[in-house]
Amino acid sequence: MGPIGVFDSGYGGLTILEAFQKSLPQYDYLYLGDNARTPYGSRSFRVVYEYTLEAVRYLFSRGCPLVILACNTASAKALRSIQQLDLPQMDPQRRVLGILRPTVEALDKITRSRHVGLLGTEGTVQSGSYPIEINKLYPDIQVVSKACPMWVPLVECGEHHSKGADYFVQKYLDELFAVDPKIDSLILGCTHYPLLIDSIRKFVPEKVQIITQGDLVAESLKDYLQRHPEMDERCSKNGVTQYLTTEASKKFEDMACVFSHGKISVSQVKL
Ligand code: DGL
Repeated sequence: MGPIGVFDSGYGGLTILEAFQKSLPQYDYLYLGDNARTPYGSRSFRVVYEYTLEAVRYLFSRGCPLVILACNTASAKALRSIQQLDLPQMDPQRRVLGILRPTVEALDKITRSRHVGLLGTEGTVQSGSYPIEINKLYPDIQVVSKACPMWVPLVECGEHHSKGADYFVQKYLDELFAVDPKIDSLILGCTHYPLLIDSIRKFVPEKVQIITQGDLVAESLKDYLQRHPEMDERCSKNGVTQYLTTEASKKFEDMACVFSHGKISVSQVKL
């Protein structure tokens, strides 16, 4: 038995982990942020894949039977290869899941116009993974994607409530809605974007539903564990979370409060 591994390129996955802790408090979690190599959003396929694979191997070595990639860029660029190529050789009894699929599955009930906007990092948008997944499940939905490269740095610099943030939020949203004014549902496809939600609300038409991922992914994990009792039995349940980072722990502890509530104590590790 072991904890559920939760991986992100840095701090952003804490927003997803918090939803897990709220919805499934009985489980143990092992969070790993690759802060030394963040951001992933602007990196190539190969590099995101290699870094993510290293992180998954590490979390397996720490006893996690199940790893959730709580990072959109890693889920978009690395998940499929890891599931199909690496996992069968590494350990077919373990599982790696991402956060795209639960987000995509929820769309059917949310969009009426069948026009959906996707906001994400350059990597997530360039990968085309969201439109591919959406069209597999719901071929009638049209997706317009927009990369928002300034949004992660704004959050990481603590500027997400500033006028500067409003400027860049409006800029990208205006560009998106100019391409398709029929969009009625907007996916915040990056772990950092929920922190900009107050600003985002100011610049989207009122009819638009803003889709954040934490609760959707937590619901989906709950459902997965119910459908897979053999995996559920392997997940330890003491309600304990441990935090790991590849950067200096002090830096992580100082920044973590931007992304989650409560004080976090973290250990530095080498992958
Ligand atoms: N966690 C990443 C994501 O959700 C954003 C931060 C990064 O670029 O590494 O795409």
